[in-house]
This record gives sequence, structure tokens and C-alpha cells, in this order.
Amino acid sequence: MTQRYLAPMEEVTGYLFRQILNRHFGGVDRYFTPFLSPVTGCAFKTRQGRELDPKHNEGLPVVPQILTDDPDAAAEMIRFLATLGYTEANLNFGCPSGTVVKKNRGSGFLRDTEAMERFFERLFSQELPMPVSVKTRLGFADAAEWPAILAVYNHFPISELIVHARVREEWYGGTPNREAFAYACENSKAPLVYNGDITSAAQFQELTEEFPNLKAVMIGRGAVADPGIFREIATGVSMSPAELREFHDDLYRSYVNLWGVKDTLFKMKEVWGYLGDRFPDADRAKKHIHKCRNEAEYLAAVRDLL
Ligand SMILES: Cc1cc2nc3c(=O)[nH]c(=O)nc-3n(C[C@H](O)[C@H](O)[C@H](O)COP(=O)(O)O)c2cc1C
Repeated sequence: MTQRYLAPMEEVTGYLFRQILNRHFGGVDRYFTPFLSPVTGCAFKTRQGRELDPKHNEGLPVVPQILTDDPDAAAEMIRFLATLGYTEANLNFGCPSGTVVKKNRGSGFLRDTEAMERFFERLFSQELPMPVSVKTRLGFADAAEWPAILAVYNHFPISELIVHARVREEWYGGTPNREAFAYACENSKAPLVYNGDITSAAQFQELTEEFPNLKAVMIGRGAVADPGIFREIATGVSMSPAELREFHDDLYRSYVNLWGVKDTLFKMKEVWGYLGDRFPDADRAKKHIHKCRNEAEYLAAVRDLL
């Protein structure tokens, strides 16, 4: 059976979101943290500390994701993760953000396959206490780059390769490139995970029929729009409107307890950027939420929509 992974989404799929999705719906085989940067001596910044705190991830199969171009810093962090009880780490080779790319990290790395080769050479020359997977895009500017990039991954003992089937220049738009993904299915040494634009159980089904050897499918935006999607794929039971309301209220209350109302409204608007897509008039739904300035307005708008 093809497994189901929740994609990492900075500012969206933090530990509270993961815990609450798990409590209400489950059906997720692996949860990935949004990207974390290693810092000297592994003195984690506050947000990172909270993401990694073992008590925040208890009982959940959580894979921390690392974003760096420094193989020694990555190795040091992987060793640190082992002391916290994690059993797998993931490396980010896909982030398209300008500031990240400028430092040749994330998808910026994909422009220089020799630098990638040196990075992995050094990383895997060290003793690592756990399997290391990679989340990648197909290239920087053009999918023609993909065979050379895949050839680099094939030189190293990467535990699994999660492919967001787009290049960096596409950001999150356009259509994922299934042809380039099919090339990976034929040529990747590491087990493959598909990622990109899966938003329903039917699409998951169709994808696994097209690519029967997939290890897993990773879902991001589709799972924020429909947090019950993993359970539906696993059991056939789709999320009811009442379940969505309960999920929303739990998430909202947990965010308020942690961050207070102002920051929570900001974060919930991010969530609604995807959740709004469930509504027949998505733009109207999103606008309705977006213009709320305080808790009373927000809760009234949510009551209206849910
Ligand atoms: C707001 C946002 C934040 C994201 N943050 C991360 C991240 O921290 N690490 C990462 O590897 N990918 C990140 N991604 C990419 C997603 O994990 C995923 O690859 C992408 O959204 C395509 O999958 P989807 O169509 O199922 O959403 C982010 C995407 C979005 C939209």
C-alpha cells in the first residue's frame, strides 16, 4: 500500500497543526517539520526548539527537515536529532525562496550538481545515526536538468527521494511534470515519493495506478484544504462539515493559547488561504476571512462559512 505523508509547510504545518490533524483524522504515515536551519552548537532558535521538542511530537512519526548547504552542520544536526529520539532526517533541496536560493540552499543547490556531489560526499563520509532522505524539485529553471540531478542522488545512500515535480522557476504554479517524474520512477535508486497538487482521494488513487511502485505520496496544500484527506484515502470515509468545524475550532483555540489572538488571526488567514478553496466561491470565502480585524469578526465569518 502506498504510504501517505503530510508535506512540510512553513508557518502552516507546525507541531500544533500536526497534532490536531492526527487527533481528528489520522491516516498519515509520516509528518515532516517545516525546514529547520542548523545553528552552531545546535542551540536551536525558539521556533525550532518547539518544533523539535520530543513532547510536541510524541506518538507521531515526525521527520525533521534540515535546510543547509553545509554538510558538517547537517551531520551535527542529524546526530543531535538522534539524541532527541528521531529516527530519520530529511534534507531540503526544493525551497524556492529568493533569500534561500541566493545562498545556494534549497532549490538554489540544484544549479550546481558538482556542489551537490561534494555536499553528499562529505555528509555520507561521516557516521550518521539514522537514514537521511531528500526532498527535491526537478531542477532550477528547466526539467532538462533533472537527469543530471537524479544522477547525483543515485551516487549516495539516500533513504528515499521525495520529488516535488516542478522546477524552482515554477514556484507552486503550473502543472507538475509527470513525465519527468516517470523518468525518476525508471531511474531512481532510492525509493520514490511523489509530491505536487494531489487534492483528493481520487487523484491519489489515479496517481498510484499510474505509478504502482511509489513508496508514498506527499500532500501539502490539499491537506490544509481538506485535513481529512489522509483518513479518506486510508478508509474511504470523507470529512464531514461537522468534523471540519471541530478541527477548525480545536486548531483556533490551540493557536490562541500559544500565540494570543493577533498572531492566531494571522496564522488562521494562512490556513484559510487553502481551506477557502473548498468553497464554491473560494475568492469570496477567502476575502471574507481576510478582512477580519478581531476575534469577534473572525469567529462570525467562520460561523458563516462553516
Ligand atoms: C506556504 C508553504 C510553505 C512551504 N514550506 C516548505 C518547507 O518548509 N519545506 C519544504 O520542503 N517544502 C515546503 N513547501 C512545499 C511543500 O512541502 C510542497 O512541496 C508543495 O506545496 C507541493 O505540494 P502540494 O501541491 O501537495 O502542496 C511549502 C509550500 C507552501 C505553499
